[in-house]
Amino acid sequence: MTDTPLLQPAPESIERRPLSTAARILMGGPVVLVTTTWRGRSNVMPLAWHMPVSSDPALIAIAIEQSRYSVDMIDHAEEFALNIPKRPMLHHVQYLGALSGEHVDKLEAAQLAHFAPARVSAPLIEGCAAWIEAGVRHQLPFGDHVVYIAEVMAVHVDPASFGERWRTDAGEDRPLLYLGGTAYSTLDREQEARPPRDLEAPERILAERIAEELELTTEARERREEIEGQLADEVQRGNIVDVSELAADLDIDDADKLDLSGGVVLGEPD
Ligand SMILES: Cc1cc2nc3c(=O)[nH]c(=O)nc-3n(C[C@H](O)[C@H](O)[C@H](O)COP(=O)(O)O)c2cc1C
Repeated sequence: MTDTPLLQPAPESIERRPLSTAARILMGGPVVLVTTTWRGRSNVMPLAWHMPVSSDPALIAIAIEQSRYSVDMIDHAEEFALNIPKRPMLHHVQYLGALSGEHVDKLEAAQLAHFAPARVSAPLIEGCAAWIEAGVRHQLPFGDHVVYIAEVMAVHVDPASFGERWRTDAGEDRPLLYLGGTAYSTLDREQEARPPRDLEAPERILAERIAEELELTTEARERREEIEGQLADEVQRGNIVDVSELAADLDIDDADKLDLSGGVVLGEPD
């Protein structure tokens, strides 16, 4: 008989949730617009369920619910393009997810300008941050979805949005992340991980690093509160405040992280 170690019960603060929550927990990546063309008709659908599956050859996977018109389109065309919209396109994305291309020309309805792809027939949508053209290699039905494993045939990026990786400092050129429902987000800041080098005591070094990170968070919050206090005073006195200067003091890249709801503040004109 093997000794089963006694495990601690789950902490009381932890909640049990329905199985469907698993998919939402795994979300938060860039939403994509899947474009397809077949027999002169094109379609576009927003999609959040995607992942890379192989680097050599470069393969990606997308999961589409079986009833979608895009399934018919991809089954026939055996190729598609992924267009990664920039942050300002969130309303377009939500709109395109509420219609089926079976009865409506969604590209036309949303007035989306597009341009010629390099390797597939699906159109590439203007104003996006990156584009991936792909040819289907496997079509696998799983549950109520169909998973397409597709080989990457061409990749294009807007360098304002993507250098060696997504640029977190790219403002409106940042990609749109999807959290579920009607909730979206953007990439906020980049952080560099510093794993322990001393293999003798990784647990000590890792514990120190967590303490360091928490301290940095507290420090940043206290500094922000202090600056917000100063700002409120200035506004109360009727002074004009240069928000961009304050943001620089705070070492943050955009002033929208300050709570300006307490008064009218005049900043630099755009
Ligand atoms: C942000 C967002 C993400 C979505 N992700 C997916 C997805 O990963 N898979 C899917 O089957 N449908 C997804 N949908 C729903 C489809 O986009 C929606 O049903 C669309 O109208 C299907 O279009 P079609 O019938 O023209 O193919 C998503 C919708 C939104 C708004």
